Amino acid sequence: MIKISPSILASDFANLEKEIKKIDEAGADLIHIDVMDGCFVPNISFGLPVISAIRKCTDKPFDVHLMIDAPERYIEEFKKAGADIITVHAEATRHLHRTLQSIKALGLKAGVALNPGTDESVIKYVLDQTDMVLVMTVNPGFGGQKFIPETVDKIRRVKELIGDRNIDIQVDGGISAANVSVVIDAGANVIVAGSAIFNAPSAKEEIDKMKSCVTK
Ligand code: DX5
Ligand code: ZN
Repeated sequence: MIKISPSILASDFANLEKEIKKIDEAGADLIHIDVMDGCFVPNISFGLPVISAIRKCTDKPFDVHLMIDAPERYIEEFKKAGADIITVHAEATRHLHRTLQSIKALGLKAGVALNPGTDESVIKYVLDQTDMVLVMTVNPGFGGQKFIPETVDKIRRVKELIGDRNIDIQVDGGISAANVSVVIDAGANVIVAGSAIFNAPSAKEEIDKMKSCVTK
């Protein structure tokens, strides 16, 4: 079973409540929330007060993707704001193992994100602390970028490293119903899509199309 996690980075920020209800009703399994600090990535999005404010708009789990330096400083705050899954970048934290431990100790799911240029071997010794590996399929920082095809091989390698452990593989960046089957075939089971879903004439149709690719 694949899960779809629409990224609200591509939504209309002037109508966030309406946009979140739209993807909730369209069949989103998770709500992907991109937090950017202007240091780890060259863009600033939104932070804690916005997440707290939108928590009331849906019961779907909040899949919080932290593109911030030293994310360990804010784990508790993101839990308080309503996060269910917190994903940190392997490149952004000095003590990846400890950071994942602290996410799990709070009863949340812990994710590790890998930039396109990052070797997947960094996850090897933290797998027992990991619920999800996020393979970035674009360089983080912006929505609407072009999918990087070299990342498909990385998804396969991550799947091999995971073996029979119960760990999700998430992909994020440049994904739409048109190319989702290649990442699913490689082993991804949690699909993030921003512009493809929010810019589609029907979010539900786009989500349904993505889910139907599994059976192909
Ligand atoms: C990029 C973000 C993504 C982004 C995806 O840094 O992590 O979640 O919103 O947007 P699309 O699907 O438009 O590439
Ligand atoms: Zn993201």
